[in-house]
Amino acid sequence: MKGRKIIIRILKQIVAERRASSTVQDNILAELLGNGRTKFHLNEEQIFDQVFTLLHSGYETVSTTSMMTLKYLHDHPKILEELREEHLALRERKRPEEPIDWNDFNSMRFTRAVILEASRLASIVNGVLRKTVKDVELNGFIIPKGWRIYVSTTNINYDPLHYPEPFKFNPWRWLADKSLESHNFCFLFGGGPRQCPGKEFGMFLVSSFLHYFVTRYSFAAFLYCLIDISGILYASTYILFFLAVLFGQSESFAKASILFADGSKSKK
Ligand code: HEM
Repeated sequence: MKGRKIIIRILKQIVAERRASSTVQDNILAELLGNGRTKFHLNEEQIFDQVFTLLHSGYETVSTTSMMTLKYLHDHPKILEELREEHLALRERKRPEEPIDWNDFNSMRFTRAVILEASRLASIVNGVLRKTVKDVELNGFIIPKGWRIYVSTTNINYDPLHYPEPFKFNPWRWLADKSLESHNFCFLFGGGPRQCPGKEFGMFLVSSFLHYFVTRYSFAAFLYCLIDISGILYASTYILFFLAVLFGQSESFAKASILFADGSKSKK
C-alpha cells in the first residue's frame, strides 16, 4: 500500500505535466488519458488503477521468468548452447549494433520453447481467480453461483497426463506439439477472455533479454554462492531476532540492526 501511494504521487505529477503539454504522445498513458481519440472517458482514479495494474502485472512476471529461464539454462548447458546458436545465427543476419525487431522475435522458435518450459516448471503465476456466474458442475461436484474459485495452475503444470516426465526441463515438448501452447489446460498466461493481455509483450521482453545476455555474456554458478550467503545471513538475522525476543533484548537488537545498516551504507 505504501508503494502504491508513492506510485500514485509520481503518476499525478506525470498526468498533470501531460495535460499541460501540447505535445501529442503515442503510448499507453496517452491512450488512457483519451487525447480525444477514444470514446471511453476514464476518471483519474481509473487511469491510475489501470497503470498500476500494468506495472504490477508486467514487472514481477517478466523479471521472475527471466531469472528462472537463466537458472534452467545454467543447469542445462546443452540447451544453453542450442539457444545461443539460435541467437548467434540471428546476429549474423544483422549489422553489429542493429537492434532485434518483431520479426526476429517471431523467428526465435527454440527460445520461445525454452521460456515456456521455464514458466511451466517454475510456475511463475501459481493460479488464476474466477467467480462463477452460474452453478457449474465439475466431475459430479457443483460449484454454486457466486463462488470465488482459485484454479491452482501449478498442479496442472506438473500433471504427467498433460506433460510427460513433468519434472524434466524439456523445451522440445513445445516444438513437438505446436498446439500445446493453446491447449485448454495450458494456463501459463491464463485462459479465456481474461487471458494475459501482455503475453506477447512479456515473451518479447524475456526473449530480447536472453538475446543480449547470451550473445554478449557467459555466466557461471558464482551467483548461487551469493544466494547461499545471503540466505545464511537472512536466516542468522531471524535466529538472532528470535533469541533477542526470547531474552527480552529486541530493542537492543533493533538498535544494533540500525547501526549495522547505517555502517554498511556509509562504507559504500
Ligand atoms: C512472462 C510474463 C507474464 C506472465 C507469465 C503473465 C501471466 C499472467 C496470468 C497467468 C494472468 C491471469 C490471466 C487469467 O486470469 O486468465 C495475467 C493477467 C494479466 N497480465 Fe500478465 N503475465 C506476464 C506478463 C505481463 C505483462 C508484460 C503485462 C503488461 C505490461 C501483463 C499484464 C496483465 C494484465 C493487465 C492482466 C489482467 C488481465 C485481466 O484480468 O483481464 N502481463 N498474466
